This record gives sequence, C-alpha cells and structure tokens, in this order.
Amino acid sequence: GKVAVLLGGSSAEREVSLKSGAAVHAALVQAGVDAHLFDPAERPLHELAQEGFDRVFIALHGRGGEDGTLQGALEFMGLPYTGSSVLGSALAMDKIRCKHLFQVAGLRTAPYKVVSQSQGFDCAEIMAQLGHVMVKPSHEGSSIGMAEANNAEELAQALEAAFKFDDEVLVEQWLSGREFTVSILSDKALPVIEMRTPSGFYDYQAKYQSSTTEYYCPADLSAAQTAQLQEMAEQAFALVGAKGWGRVDAMQGDDGEFYLLEVNTVPGMTEKSLVPMAAKATGVDFTALVVKILEQTL
Ligand code: DAL
Ligand code: MG
Repeated sequence: GKVAVLLGGSSAEREVSLKSGAAVHAALVQAGVDAHLFDPAERPLHELAQEGFDRVFIALHGRGGEDGTLQGALEFMGLPYTGSSVLGSALAMDKIRCKHLFQVAGLRTAPYKVVSQSQGFDCAEIMAQLGHVMVKPSHEGSSIGMAEANNAEELAQALEAAFKFDDEVLVEQWLSGREFTVSILSDKALPVIEMRTPSGFYDYQAKYQSSTTEYYCPADLSAAQTAQLQEMAEQAFALVGAKGWGRVDAMQGDDGEFYLLEVNTVPGMTEKSLVPMAAKATGVDFTALVVKILEQTL
C-alpha cells in the first residue's frame, strides 16, 4: 500500500526531522515501498486520508509528532502508524512525569526538582539542595533549551532560557560520568552505544554538527553491566507504555551506577543516528531497520 513518511513539522526539532524523514523515505523507496513525504507544517493533516495512504511512518520529532497528539489524530483517521501509541508517546515526551514513574518503579534516576514559572521558585534553595545541575525543558528533545548551572545566578539564567520552551522545567542533579544510549527494536534492547564528546556534554552541536563526537558500539562495558543497562532500558520503555522501537538514554554516576535520563519514542533516524548504528551492529542495515519498523504497524 501507499505509505506517508511524516517529517518536518513545526517543533524545535524540525531540522533534525527533515533529515530523519528524508533518510527513512529513501530507504523505503529502495525497499520497493510506495512511500511519499508529507510535512504537516506545509499541508493539513486531513489530506492524508484523502490521498489514500494506508500507513504512516512517523519521522517527526518533538511536539506535534512525538507527543501523542499526532498519534491521537491518526487513530481518529483510522490510519495505522509506526511506534508508540497515544499514551506512551505523551508520557515519554514529558521528562518530569517519566522521572516520577522511574522513581515509583525503583529505576535509578538522578535527584531533581521541578520548577514551574507560574508557581515561583528560589534558585539559591535549589542549588543548596542539588549543587551542580543540568536544566531541561520538560518537553523538548535534542538537548534544545538545556543548560548547565553551578550557582544560583547561572540557574536563574538557565531557567529563563528553558522557560522559552516550557512552563515546567526539570532541574536535575549533574551526572559527571559516561553517557550511554540503548536502542529498542521490537521492544528489545539492541547493543549499548557510548557517546563521548570533548566538551563532556552531548548537546545539539555534538549530536548533529560535530566531527569530534566519538561513538563506541558496542560500548566498552562488562557483560554484566551491559545486561543491567539493557534490562533497565527495556523496563523504562515498557513502564512509560512505549511500543515497538525507540531509544532510552542513560548516564553513569560517579558511584558507577547507571541513571536513567529519558525515553525517546521517535529517535533520530539520520544516517548518523544512534538507533541505526545499534541495529547495524546486529546485522540490520538502515533499509532493513526502516522496513522492520514499518512492518510492526500491521
Ligand atoms: N530527539 C532526538 C531526535 C533523538 O532523541 O534522537
Ligand atoms: Mg529526547
């Protein structure tokens, strides 16, 4: 049947999504699928139904693509789509509620505070409790709106920047250890990847523009550590109700333990991206990966 590859959109991650969508589309065409690009920022979504598409590959990142709203619209239109459904998408997009769930389930995650612009906050008090922190808008991806803070003044600045994206902001205790990601395919963990950046912060630039970011796949961890991290990622993925494919990010603390960061339900799918890298390590090339994800919509 005819497949729409949804890409672009109007979130802050539009540029990343244009790359993911183009790569996915090219792979589907190569696999003989009748695939067409569709950018909801340029065309009304209801045209999907009018044009006789029978399936949708979601390559939209962030709000309006990864957060459950699009998934809800597609449910109403009766169009099967890739990846997580409404609930899993909405929850995974909300870093704060994910952390609440991780805690309830006994999955290790860094200590944090939730700061809301409308409710007021005391930067000195937060810094006294958490020390060095990372500030994150609750509903963004690709490290957009994130900043590090070492004192109350820096925290005030970081919050102001994050409030441009969200009223609710996550202030997370700084994790200084190694950074890992666990890709998920068919609800199962793929080989772990470690990302290393000279700056120590795997930010937007390091993710998409840098030539100095280093990737280790599989990560240099003991078999026991790898199994532990993969198990943790599968648990987190299931806990938030995510389905099919995705990616769970984690870091190692100074104590050597793994700490969960978040779950991504539409992770990057550019040729440089992490899920394709992990799939390749198991012998699944980019085209086979994209076809596998699409097949799971049936
Ligand atoms: N939010 C970006 C696309 C990722 O998780 O890969
Ligand atoms: Mg993310």
